[in-house]
Amino acid sequence: MHVLLDKKQENMVKKKTVRLTLYRYAGKFLFFRIKKRCTECNISYTILQRLMSEQLHGKPVALRIVPWLDNFWKVIWRGGWHAPILTVNGKVFSQGRVPDVPKLLSTIGKILKDKSIIQSGEVKIDKVISPEKESAITVYFSPACPHCRLLLSYLNNNGIQYSGKDVTLSESARKDVERLTGRLSIPVIIVKGEIIQGFDKSRLNDLLGVLPEDEKPVKADIQKIIPHFTNSRLREIHQKAVNVLDKNRLKCWTMPSTRLYPHLWNWDSGFISLGYLHYDPEKAYTELRSLFRGQWSDGFLPHIIFNPEYNNHFPGPGYWKADNSGKVPAGKFTSGIGQPPVHATMIARAIKLDPDKERALSFFKEIYPKLKKLHDFYFTQRDPYSENLVSIVHPWESGLDNAPLWDEPLAAITDTSEWALNMQQKYDELAQKGDRPKRIYIEKYSYLVENMYKNNYNWEKISENHPFLIQGVLFNSILCKSELDLGNIAEFIGYSADIHYDRADKVKMAINKKLFDEAEGIYYNFDLVHQKHIKRDTIFSYMPLFAGIPDREMGKTVLDTLGTHCFCIADMDCVAIPSYDMCQVDFDGEFYWRGPVWININWYLAQGFRQYGETELAEWIENSLIDLADRKGFYEYYDPNSGIGLGEKDFSWTAALIIDLVADRLKL
Ligand code: GLC
Repeated sequence: MHVLLDKKQENMVKKKTVRLTLYRYAGKFLFFRIKKRCTECNISYTILQRLMSEQLHGKPVALRIVPWLDNFWKVIWRGGWHAPILTVNGKVFSQGRVPDVPKLLSTIGKILKDKSIIQSGEVKIDKVISPEKESAITVYFSPACPHCRLLLSYLNNNGIQYSGKDVTLSESARKDVERLTGRLSIPVIIVKGEIIQGFDKSRLNDLLGVLPEDEKPVKADIQKIIPHFTNSRLREIHQKAVNVLDKNRLKCWTMPSTRLYPHLWNWDSGFISLGYLHYDPEKAYTELRSLFRGQWSDGFLPHIIFNPEYNNHFPGPGYWKADNSGKVPAGKFTSGIGQPPVHATMIARAIKLDPDKERALSFFKEIYPKLKKLHDFYFTQRDPYSENLVSIVHPWESGLDNAPLWDEPLAAITDTSEWALNMQQKYDELAQKGDRPKRIYIEKYSYLVENMYKNNYNWEKISENHPFLIQGVLFNSILCKSELDLGNIAEFIGYSADIHYDRADKVKMAINKKLFDEAEGIYYNFDLVHQKHIKRDTIFSYMPLFAGIPDREMGKTVLDTLGTHCFCIADMDCVAIPSYDMCQVDFDGEFYWRGPVWININWYLAQGFRQYGETELAEWIENSLIDLADRKGFYEYYDPNSGIGLGEKDFSWTAALIIDLVADRLKL
């Protein structure tokens, strides 16, 4: 039914209607005609169409799409000069990029005083529509991403024209990827309006009409070549690694490195003790003795025991205020957070590696009560809901200080601390790319620490209001394996191992139940504060393999999932397994825990892959690690593409774990 409105009524309707105008990059003026395609314009167009038919359906909102060059004079005087330009009631809302949907909905909602519009959220699109049936091809890529390289090589070799957008150079390209696919993975290719994620050759052949028989080969699938070494070469590498450990060793403990890490670090000392077991077990025992001298009376083992002779470190004891706990051993200075309990797993090897079995057993007797107390602490103090999953209270407790896993939970912390400013200044003095976490998080770290010392490190109290409580995959996998190994140690010295095997079993079940995401076929950390999985594609998702946590079938699923990501598994060209999926828009091969290869993580992964039948992959990883150390040196971490050594040089755990791998090959 049509209702005829008089002029007055028409004006009233006009006044109440929100007018959206999209000026897209098209049109002509005098002799100029725009021929270039504009992907942002098409994405904007698709998003606006979608909003009109969903969130804004039935609302008094009108949308007009106009070619910019035919109309540029209408917006240029309002400050709009870079298409796509979106105006809301004549005012420029955004230009040069795809409009921000939540902001747009909030603007419209506010004008119409309609809360339901403000709260109606994001738009995920699966097909980009262009006003004139866009036929150009756009590829979102990054140079480091192996699947992107395959895709570009396919397009180039088959003579297909495309416009490429490097996500490492453009923030708006990164945002487009997220908006188009709801994820951070690349490559993304838009072909005839279809959005395809990843390199799907058969789908592209269909869409582009490339016949398999005409198809030119993409960069040939890369054969992983397993490096081989002569025994004399291995002996040389072994000696070099021993020299690193001995150089970093003080009287009775070892610094992770002499420059940046001049104190006693918790999980570092665990790995280091395994290195010593191979050539001087007494040093391994002394290392752990020294570490556990810093154990608090409740069993907690801090992540740093400070070297009293070196008081220049920041953040030092004054930052942690560990004494507030009343639990620090007399005369010791420690931090107030922990690290993954790797120690039982490392030292359990003494029974095989120490030629003096009596000595090994006597050390087991000495260390067992301390290890048990540490594990008891985690089960009783750090599992607030008795789920058999330990939670960490600070990103650094994970050992993976700067991993992308913490971005979301940290961003959600809005409180700030008294310390923040002071700390930022200190950090700026120390900062050097690769060594330090993101500056924007420093305030949040300080807030977390402040909350701990203000609550006197009373964990029960802290877990009631702490804004960062995460059940980590890596942490709990390490704990599970350590419980099994502590069970072995207990048996060797004639104690009952039941409690340990029982706890290992419970942690395993809990990891499989709560941290496994059926739909994605992978393990994710769980954020207790926001009650959700942290779905970031880091390699730490695969750590349950080394602890034998998934059953055969789940293990297969996990390995299949691994194959769909860019972790340098099959047809990819890199030096070992990176810490972050190389096909993520924020992958950074040089920034610590956000992409580089770490020796300890690869060492665990190889053991996991071997257990689940991927022997060749395991062999490739381990030999590549030895090769890296040999060619580049014993670095803290390495660029996965170039193999360049990064972070600290002569890093202790790198040397210790290389000793383990080399000794195994030399059958020492
Ligand atoms: C870095 C690492 C941490 C390690 C420490 C000392 O902070 O992230 O895992 O323990 O250095 O090496």
